[in-house]
Amino acid sequence: RTLKLASLTALAAGVMMAGSALADPITIKFSHVVAPNTPKGQMAEKFKELVEESSVGDQVDVEVYPNSQLYGDDQVLEAMLLGDVQLAAPALSKFQKYTKQLQVFDLPFLFKDMDAVERFQNSETGQKLLTSLEPKGLIGLGYLHNGMKQLSASEPLRVPSDAAGKKFRIMTSDVLEAQFEAVDAAPLKKPFSEVFMLLQTDAIDGQENTYSNIYSQKFYEVQPYITESNHGLLDYMVVSSARFWNDLPDDVRPVVEKALDQAIAYGNDIAAQENQEAKQAIIDSGKSEIIDLTPEQRQQWVDAMKPVWDQFSDEIGQDVIDAARAANN
Ligand code: LMR
Repeated sequence: RTLKLASLTALAAGVMMAGSALADPITIKFSHVVAPNTPKGQMAEKFKELVEESSVGDQVDVEVYPNSQLYGDDQVLEAMLLGDVQLAAPALSKFQKYTKQLQVFDLPFLFKDMDAVERFQNSETGQKLLTSLEPKGLIGLGYLHNGMKQLSASEPLRVPSDAAGKKFRIMTSDVLEAQFEAVDAAPLKKPFSEVFMLLQTDAIDGQENTYSNIYSQKFYEVQPYITESNHGLLDYMVVSSARFWNDLPDDVRPVVEKALDQAIAYGNDIAAQENQEAKQAIIDSGKSEIIDLTPEQRQQWVDAMKPVWDQFSDEIGQDVIDAARAANN
């Protein structure tokens, strides 16, 4: 009988332990496609660190999966809606299946610099765009910078006719497709994880990206020319599924949200510097020549590509485009 009681007590203790183990870590898988030493990679690490140090550090586990290890950007949002991943920050160019409004960020030569981008993202219109995914069950938690895109290629690109007939990898964006068609080039929508191979095997001639990505993915090793065009933006939206986010316990969500806000601010702070350092590292490598455009040459690209705005003004909304333009002043 004593024995029985003892084993019952042990059983009860076991049940209690199992109980506390069940009230257990909430796992946040953060999946992204870039290298750890990029603005987004650093932001993700910072978020993990801040959550670990926070008051909910023992309740929440953050797992960061860089380099398309877990998902490419073309699957990550579906995986998120299925509950297989909880955080991601795809490029703003990769949401067109979910909303057309974010296409505004892809319009070529829309923003004169990153300060203008920042002003637009913080404006009423910019903040409203963060909610544009809600009908699809996704929640926009903030904008994250990378920076302005440059054109890399196997041949020097100085004027739009240099791009004619060449194949360029683009993200899954109809605006980017139209942008390259506007200079008679052939755009191909391909996952980020395939770009290096496509360039290396000459399956494509070029691509557009920030210095940070051109450097960390080693595109510069197989692209002898980079035209500093600053023709478009590569920024991200940090997203979660509304179901996951709203189901976080009320004492956990604000702490996680604060960590995320701080991590985003950190990422945004270092983005310009990261791109500058990547540019310098590319120059130092001697493997790729950076081509500066004269104002006249740049104007030719502007003239060729800007008509794309009109092609998409109905889908995006002229009011949204006007608000973005106004942020240049
Ligand atoms: C790309 O596909 O080129 C970018 O979206 C990669 C990234 O996330 O910066």
